[in-house]
Amino acid sequence: PGAQPLVAPLMGFTGVAAQTGADFDRILVADGYRAEAFFSWGDAVLDSAPPWRDDASQDWQAQLLQAGDNHDGMHFFPFEEAPNAHGLLVINHEYINPTLHSDGFSYTELQDGRRQRPLDQVRKEQAAHGVSVLEIRRDTEGQWQRVSGSRYHRRISAMTPMVVSGPLRGDRRMRTASDPSGTEVLGTLNNCSMGVTPWGTYLTCEENFHNYFVNRDAADHASRPTHQRYGIGQGQRSAYYAWESVDARFDATPDEQQPHQGHVNEPHRFGWVVEIDPFDPYSTPIKRTAMGRLGRECSVLSMGDDGRMAVYSGDDARGEYVWKFIPDGRHDPANRAASRDLLDSGILYAARFDEDGRGHWLPLIWGVQGLTAANGFADQQAVLLNARGAADILGATPMDRPEWVAVHPESREVYVTLTNNHERGDRSPLDAANPRPNNQHGQILRWREDGADPAATAFKWDLFLLAGDQPGATDAEGQPLPDNLIGTIQGDIFSSPDGLAFDGGGRLWIQTDSDEEAAHTVNTGCNQLLCADPQTREVRRFLVGPRGAEITGITWTPDYRTLWINVQHPGISYPASDGHSRPRSTTVMITHEDGRVIGS
Ligand code: FEO
Ligand code: CA
Ligand code: CA
Ligand code: CA
Repeated sequence: PGAQPLVAPLMGFTGVAAQTGADFDRILVADGYRAEAFFSWGDAVLDSAPPWRDDASQDWQAQLLQAGDNHDGMHFFPFEEAPNAHGLLVINHEYINPTLHSDGFSYTELQDGRRQRPLDQVRKEQAAHGVSVLEIRRDTEGQWQRVSGSRYHRRISAMTPMVVSGPLRGDRRMRTASDPSGTEVLGTLNNCSMGVTPWGTYLTCEENFHNYFVNRDAADHASRPTHQRYGIGQGQRSAYYAWESVDARFDATPDEQQPHQGHVNEPHRFGWVVEIDPFDPYSTPIKRTAMGRLGRECSVLSMGDDGRMAVYSGDDARGEYVWKFIPDGRHDPANRAASRDLLDSGILYAARFDEDGRGHWLPLIWGVQGLTAANGFADQQAVLLNARGAADILGATPMDRPEWVAVHPESREVYVTLTNNHERGDRSPLDAANPRPNNQHGQILRWREDGADPAATAFKWDLFLLAGDQPGATDAEGQPLPDNLIGTIQGDIFSSPDGLAFDGGGRLWIQTDSDEEAAHTVNTGCNQLLCADPQTREVRRFLVGPRGAEITGITWTPDYRTLWINVQHPGISYPASDGHSRPRSTTVMITHEDGRVIGS
């Protein structure tokens, strides 16, 4: 009796309870841990930033110097001389909330169904999008601080000039009235998750870009798969913010009177992976078009023994696909500069998950397997611009909203979150990988590439878990839940997995983005950070966030003793948590009182 296990269990913390109260407005974290607000919307990025004001009266010029809104994917890039105490924190700002403006989100309804927005509000919204780069350091008291006077601090926004590289650079389908060369785009939009490269760059991903555009010509919209298949707005205004009322490039209605038909091609210039070198504050971000145009959630790299690699992506919309991109070249750790443009050539693949647990990567190569002019693909550029349509023809498997991907640090087993899909069993048929009708809670699926080779074209897959309630659970009235709300989680329940990452010890960290107002979240409550053991499949709840917020974004110091996560769009008054202050998206820092590895 009492024999010691040979290996310490992966998880050494006591799980916390789900929080279902309507007024839960703080962070609950496992015993022995401390969670502190570290970097909120409006905090200084550039040294010249004015202090944030709770009345949100600051203008767009101030916003351009401060943290953007809706913090999402992020990464800590350590400096070599003190990797656990000094580095660059790079953070996506996905979109904006009306709390950005003192008078909310204002507009005038016009008679034809359009909305007229105030220019100063739109500029502030554009300034609150993009990416922050922040130099941070742990001081002699052990406190992490933003370094003042740093040359690395940088704000990238929806207005920052970026270059187009790869097959679509200069292509006629990338040219607009504002950029007749088709080589320079202003800004990046809806930067959700991300990836990092072994050559030290950050890959920010453009997710729901379609909601920023409108093509008011219904017939033209229907005839253009790069608009229609991607959900570019149709009608009189764009779905989100009606920026088109003051910034013409968001009006993608063809205009025969203008060069390149005005801005009809502007939506082609989003949906890409954008590579940023955080260590060079003067570098121009690069849109890598060889990787294809998706509603791209993430781009997560898996490195093979021979320097060949895969970059995995989810395309987060109902019934969209799981992707990987295999660069033609190899990474040579001894020659970082040679990897600079590795993402400019390679093959894009979409995944097919077969019923027998095997899977295949289907290559998007022009002229092959029906990707021909007869099917609307004039060349490889057309395939990349309408990668979704190409994958339809190849027979890829429509998934329940693929979000983040995580690769196990040793086995290279790959995990993906499929967050939910209420249209499953209706618009998409049930299948082994997406087995629940009206899928409210989502699932986590995993696969092993043949030979553990990231460049393999076939794999074996299985479902790691179905999220949702335990068997026998009841609803708010004590009635038994229907089968589609019952999951297979061993341990603490959750709904709608989204963020996903492995730490160096092989713990799988799961973050959730569920709607706490919905009937199906009556038992799972506020969004969470959980930890899972990939072998035993046990899931344990590590942290619960404030009501209204999604928990997303995850990164550590290399010793895994400091963890950062993001609280996105908190609903009440977090981080002040006083019941009345303006809520602010916030990066939260988590440490253990005895300095333990997080979760151990
Ligand atoms: Fe921005 Fe798919 O989450
Ligand atoms: Ca997400
Ligand atoms: Ca989500
Ligand atoms: Ca979100």
